[in-house]
Amino acid sequence: MLNRKFEAALRQLLAEAETPFYAYDLPAVLREAEAFQRAFPGVRLLYAVKANPRLFLLRTLRERGFFAETVSLGEVFRSYRAGFLPQEVVLNGPVKPPPVLRALKTAGVPRLVVDSRADLERIARELPGAQVLIRVNPDLPVSTHPHLATGKGESQFGVLPKEVPALARLARERGLELLGLHLHLGSALDRPEDFEAGYRVLEELLDELGRQPVVDLGGGFGLDLDLAALSPRVARVRQRTGEVWLEPGRRLVARAGVLATRVWGEKRTRRRYLLLDAGMSQFLRPALYGARPPVLPLYEAAETGVFDLAGPACESADVLARDVRLPVPKEGDALLILEAGAYGASMANRYLDTPRPAEYLWDGARWHLLRPREGYPELFEGERS
Ligand SMILES: Cc1ncc(COP(=O)(O)O)c(C=O)c1O
Repeated sequence: MLNRKFEAALRQLLAEAETPFYAYDLPAVLREAEAFQRAFPGVRLLYAVKANPRLFLLRTLRERGFFAETVSLGEVFRSYRAGFLPQEVVLNGPVKPPPVLRALKTAGVPRLVVDSRADLERIARELPGAQVLIRVNPDLPVSTHPHLATGKGESQFGVLPKEVPALARLARERGLELLGLHLHLGSALDRPEDFEAGYRVLEELLDELGRQPVVDLGGGFGLDLDLAALSPRVARVRQRTGEVWLEPGRRLVARAGVLATRVWGEKRTRRRYLLLDAGMSQFLRPALYGARPPVLPLYEAAETGVFDLAGPACESADVLARDVRLPVPKEGDALLILEAGAYGASMANRYLDTPRPAEYLWDGARWHLLRPREGYPELFEGERS
């Protein structure tokens, strides 16, 4: 459900802004941020920048006490640009090559999550004395899409629990400052039980290693997860450690964002399609994860039909939603793809020389243009020969 005022503001914006574009409801982001702060008092919240990296959002969340969770040098630079200090940024990710580590030496060394023995050795060599957490691969299945199940033993992330104590010893031997343990179970987890087994793995490791300054429990909070129901469990982990950190991404911004698009045609093959000016270049999650976002038509018609919504790419995966009942549109009618505020614009790409779409933010009273739509000349800039 969209906030009524946001929807009214969007209808006005659509009168002047060319589709496709992303639009964000800032009050909705702030409500979610407060919901996390209420549900997890005393817990340090790190915003997973990848969910939506716009500087405006980063600055706003930092002002409210959030730190930043990053997985690339670009995201670290972006976080610094938004005002985060190095000690407020955590750099995660399975591969941190030497040039990345050397660039951090110059830019400011964030906290780092060690993802393997080789990663540890390299960090110790390039960034002596850095503060690190060890990422635990809890070796657990979780009930989500296979691409989102980062905590299963087959994934490339982290080290298996039995290898953690040796890595912790090695971190100290190499002169790194061991802050504690890190865990990320997966994304879009909607049941408190999904977190239980992972937390137990961490607690068993704490039994073995002793109290750690920090335990980072990662992100993955599904849009329908009851935060209050998870809260006591997180509080129990907190009794076992100095600080608990959480890394919400999607939950903070997904429902606050929409992708606005227009219908430019209808056709029937063996299925009935609406043809949109937005697709997998603007919003990759349906093609990548089989996500099926809700759709809100901003037009009315007496007749309805059941449609698949196809984008402009010449790819059979370029379908944003299937089997959606909608009023039958006229050419140019506008639709909103909902729950597009997370992993929408951040995954938008230039495939097929498609300019990335504009992004607007509504602050409750007026619109801010966060980023204009890319121009065509920008697509060719930097190409040498
Ligand atoms: C290490 C880590 N932390 C946090 C997140 C954020 O997850 P979500 O957006 O599902 O909350 C991710 C997502 O991939 C991640 O890999």
